[in-house]
Amino acid sequence: MLARVSIFHQRTELMQRILVWDFPTRVFHWALALSFAGAWLTSESDRWLSVHVFLGYQMLGLVIFRVIWGLIGTHYARFSSFWFGPKDALAYLRQVLARQAPRHVGHNPTGSVAIYLLLLFALLVGITGFFTLGGEEQQGALAGWMGITQGRIFKSLHEFSANLMLLLVFGHLAGVIGESLLHKENLARSMFTGIKLADAGAPVARPRLLVALFMAMLMATYGIWWFFYALHAPLEQQLGGTAGKPKTPAVAFVGPKLADNAQWREECGSCHLAFHPSLLPRRSWVRIMSEQKQHFGSDLGLEAPITAALLTFLTDNSAEQRKTEPATKIELSIKVDATPLRITETPYWVKKHRDITVADWQSPKVKSRSNCAACHVDAEAGTFEDAAMRLPVL
Ligand code: HEC
Ligand code: HEC
Repeated sequence: MLARVSIFHQRTELMQRILVWDFPTRVFHWALALSFAGAWLTSESDRWLSVHVFLGYQMLGLVIFRVIWGLIGTHYARFSSFWFGPKDALAYLRQVLARQAPRHVGHNPTGSVAIYLLLLFALLVGITGFFTLGGEEQQGALAGWMGITQGRIFKSLHEFSANLMLLLVFGHLAGVIGESLLHKENLARSMFTGIKLADAGAPVARPRLLVALFMAMLMATYGIWWFFYALHAPLEQQLGGTAGKPKTPAVAFVGPKLADNAQWREECGSCHLAFHPSLLPRRSWVRIMSEQKQHFGSDLGLEAPITAALLTFLTDNSAEQRKTEPATKIELSIKVDATPLRITETPYWVKKHRDITVADWQSPKVKSRSNCAACHVDAEAGTFEDAAMRLPVL
């Protein structure tokens, strides 16, 4: 059934104010808008990644809800009431440009197609984000399912689809403004109140039982969110761990567990943080260990067998293993003919810390660039997760 089209351009005495956008549709609409805007604003900085991801899951949940609501919602929320295709959209657009477009109480054909595209892109952005998180950050339910390089492919797709979605949002806004002017009504306000003027006899969105269903749906959405976000651990763990082991308690944003070694912690962790081997490439560790008698001004005085054992641990777990995002990116950033002795001289490290001021570095809480633990809670573990960054009050 198509939305009732009013042939009147002028408002008539016969028109009445009716409920068009039911409560769930309005909540959905603004929640989606806020999630997208928030995710956009938090997309650049690593420190906001947890918020960004939360908003992404929220968006996915909302889209799922909207699809269900499009099937069982009230009249104007149902897809059947605005089942228009690209041809209808273009035809309507032409009518709008000629200023002859009839007013639709529900979604007009162009707006309808914009809505389908927005839903599709919200889904794409959400799914590619989910894969990016699993691949590039090795976090979330898909952690460990693919490499960081594949994750980066998803990241490009994620950014690409998000940019297209932003364009669609602008198109949608232009449409809302144009349509509001054309038919002299405030469409944005009706998305708050739900009320619009319609001819007598036009279908009314009657909630009742459906509101109860809506609440159930909301719970389901949050169930999905809870499953993937609050229980932010790989799927195997969420589904009961391996071989009868008890379920691992899942904590948000814990990176992969990296190789550890007691001897290394003891010998290389006495003067400074034991810098995890994944933070430098193999050749750097070879050089550091071969020059251990002049280690940044001190002689480490290590005996040959210990040096050999340390070197094995360091080179076996070097950046080339690409177990974490920092390892991968540090490794890719170093020129092939360079053998840095410092993590703090690698191009990736320099780039990530370029916004930190000289005064911050000299603060008594930091003192040295190599004092990673001053700002990274997980420095000991070597994972350097985005969510584990804590800038001390400088
Ligand atoms: C006797 C003290 C001492 C011990 C033991 C020591 N280091 Fe160091 N290390 C230093 C000093 C001093 C620096 C320079 C720190 C600075 O500039 O802030 C340094 C810096 C480094 C850096 C560069 C950090 C950066 O700026 O990116 C690496 C890598 C490093 N050490 C690795 C090791 C390894 C591997 C071991 C164990 C084999 C080790 N260190 C043991 C004193 C030590
Ligand atoms: C003064 C505080 C401070 C110190 C000390 C510091 N960092 Fe950072 N680091 C930061 C901040 C802030 C960021 C985030 C920059 C941003 O938002 O993109 C960051 C980002 C990073 C990242 C990127 C994380 C990611 O996933 O994008 C890595 C890796 C990293 N630091 C490693 C180190 C290592 C290794 C050391 C020690 C050698 C260190 N940092 C010392 C503050 C610090």
